[in-house]
Amino acid sequence: MRTRSKLMSQVAVILAAAVVCTAGCSKAKEPVKEAPKEPAKEAPKEPAKEAAKDQVEVFSWWTGAGEQEGLDAMIADFKSKNPSIELVNAAVSGGAGTNAKAILANRLQAGTPPDSYQRHAGLELADDIKAGKVEDLTKLYEAQGWKDKLPKGLLEAITIDGKIYSVPVNIHRANLIWFQPKTLGALGIAGPPKTWKEFMTQAATIKAKGKTALAIGPQWTQKHLLETVLLGELGPDTYTGLWNGKTDWKSKEVIAALDMFKQVLAVSDIKSSAADWQPAADRVIDGTAVYTVMGDWLDGYWGRAKKLAFKTDYDVAPSPGSTGVYDFLSDSFTLPVGAKHRAAAEKWLIECGSVAGQDLFNPQKGSVPARTDADKSKYQGYLATALKDWQDPTTKIVGSLAHGVVANNALSSEIDTALGIFVESRDSAGFAAAVAKAYAATK
Ligand code: GAL
Repeated sequence: MRTRSKLMSQVAVILAAAVVCTAGCSKAKEPVKEAPKEPAKEAPKEPAKEAAKDQVEVFSWWTGAGEQEGLDAMIADFKSKNPSIELVNAAVSGGAGTNAKAILANRLQAGTPPDSYQRHAGLELADDIKAGKVEDLTKLYEAQGWKDKLPKGLLEAITIDGKIYSVPVNIHRANLIWFQPKTLGALGIAGPPKTWKEFMTQAATIKAKGKTALAIGPQWTQKHLLETVLLGELGPDTYTGLWNGKTDWKSKEVIAALDMFKQVLAVSDIKSSAADWQPAADRVIDGTAVYTVMGDWLDGYWGRAKKLAFKTDYDVAPSPGSTGVYDFLSDSFTLPVGAKHRAAAEKWLIECGSVAGQDLFNPQKGSVPARTDADKSKYQGYLATALKDWQDPTTKIVGSLAHGVVANNALSSEIDTALGIFVESRDSAGFAAAVAKAYAATK
């Protein structure tokens, strides 16, 4: 299983090699190359020179509208506090890290890691910890007093054997359905659907009026939709059971939820969709599609990058069937073993873990701070409700599949393969059997 997924990520690396960083980020691909100098006679001193330079290479996938602004805000603060350190922004484009993760895997394998890289808290990070790719940050946590500034559950997602391995910058919510109030009004739809069944009823009305019910993007957005349909149809406990072995993937209940996913796909624009999550969201704003299911980075895109007004230009609700549930994910930064600029990387991590850094990053990014002592007044509009829901003790918290919390990389990549087939075949039982098998094999 692992061999197969390794192979797949290598294929992905080759495909991703063509991807060039968009404006605002430096090229991520050159770290190993030193431009060959013509004299070529001098003693090979480059590595020492390189290590002496005060620099930090930060690796993420935040290059797109809404995401880049958040990163830039934190980078600007870092630069003002560390004027002698050159920050190399090695972000690689592609939502949810589609390209970045493959390039990173290659660099980790080659032993040429960036100085700090983005990893989702949860099983995605656990893979790196187990493989010895990232340093234990417990001392940094102690020095910075971070331990009691982060929610316990989140700390657990980045801890193994009592050691803490990354610095979370945010909390995102995945189970959200977004729309324009004026589109619903024009269609005579009273409000966003509370269940997927109601969504399907609305979809019939929407289709009759010549619009698409659901805008969707590339495969990771389909996986994101899958997790929200499973959550909405199964409820939080049975959904969580899919990841801890308590829910049988081949049960009638799960097959029925997958059948619902099929129906939802059938009223989406999956046939013509391409590009990334922002173009899918654009179709909701231009009115050709009515809804899109996406994480709250969409609030950063619409609310900040596009300057649309929350509630009037756009609105959001929990994805059908998931009121009171927070399907969470968290972006965190690491200190890889073998980082060339270790001290500067620690400074970057201090920025990520600081109240100032988080309060600059998150309002732009459309996420709430990981720290519990951040300045609440900075979180307005959608983010004020997100923060309230996240901190509400009655909210049920579950982890995201598409964004690294509940599935390790081997299982996640098997699900990608099975999902690609499912989207073509629409064979729910076949998909369930494939995932059940992959789950057992990758435990
Ligand atoms: C997620 C990531 C978010 C956001 C999203 C879309 O995996 O955690 O911060 O960037 O992908 O790119």
